[in-house]
Amino acid sequence: METTALVTGADRGLGFGLTQGLLQRGYRVFAGQYMPDWTELDGLAGEYPDTLHLVPLDVGQTDSCYAAAATVAAMTDRIDVLINNAGITGGRGEIGEGLDYEAIQRAYNVNALGPIRVVEAFLSLTKPGLRRLCFVSSEAGSIANSYRTSGFGYYMSKAAVNMGVKITFNRLRPDGYTFRLYHPGWVRGYMGGKKGTHADLEPDVAAEYALPFFLNEREDEDRLVLIDNLGREWPF
Ligand SMILES: NC(=O)c1ccc[n+]([C@@H]2O[C@H](COP(=O)([O-])OP(=O)(O)OC[C@H]3O[C@@H](n4cnc5c(N)ncnc54)[C@H](OP(=O)(O)O)[C@@H]3O)[C@@H](O)[C@H]2O)c1
Repeated sequence: METTALVTGADRGLGFGLTQGLLQRGYRVFAGQYMPDWTELDGLAGEYPDTLHLVPLDVGQTDSCYAAAATVAAMTDRIDVLINNAGITGGRGEIGEGLDYEAIQRAYNVNALGPIRVVEAFLSLTKPGLRRLCFVSSEAGSIANSYRTSGFGYYMSKAAVNMGVKITFNRLRPDGYTFRLYHPGWVRGYMGGKKGTHADLEPDVAAEYALPFFLNEREDEDRLVLIDNLGREWPF
């Protein structure tokens, strides 16, 4: 039986790399498309006409998540691997400088609530079997290791999604779901508005680090861990 995956924020950056890597491994992939004018996914759909499906998906909007789930449900009755990847920055500024609360709220909505929304919307498609829920978080969400003095929106939203994942884990792990909480390393993605050039990893390389963690079995599925691309565990 074919294995299916959903990837959010698949247009570019790590999400695109993950989509490509899954297709190369023979998965049928439903790629959340947030930027219809960005053509990289269209090119990939030409290469994989039978196994790549582009699905409009804004993880910041509940209606969009349920509409995407309905679109996917018309094509398959199951999602085996759900990868919450979409993310945005959340403004800069230190305390006392007049923070951009709207930017902070946007980051919270997309980064913290988005993955939980997506899980809720797609829950009925996660049938007994693999039931793997993956979350691209960040070391930046580690409260224990935080050293930063600014960047409230992004860092707080990543700490919050870690908690959201933990609550979801507590509820769904007894039903056979398995969880992957992940920091992808420093990736040359587009979160700064244009492609990063100074970071360590090209998105396709970062995806090749991530996919074994997302797809392989772990010995201790009953412990939720935040793991980075080098296999190191982070406190969160
Ligand atoms: N890059 C790093 O070094 C790094 C480090 C740690 C963790 N991460 C995490 O890794 C993930 C991917 O990062 P990346 O560097 O690949 O970012 P990216 O290049 O910006 O890719 C993220 C994609 O998600 C899209 N997106 C934005 N808002 C969305 C929404 N509401 N619904 C659906 N898609 C949306 C983005 O569109 P727009 O471009 O229009 O916003 C973009 O296409 C994020 O969760 C990020 O926090 C990245």
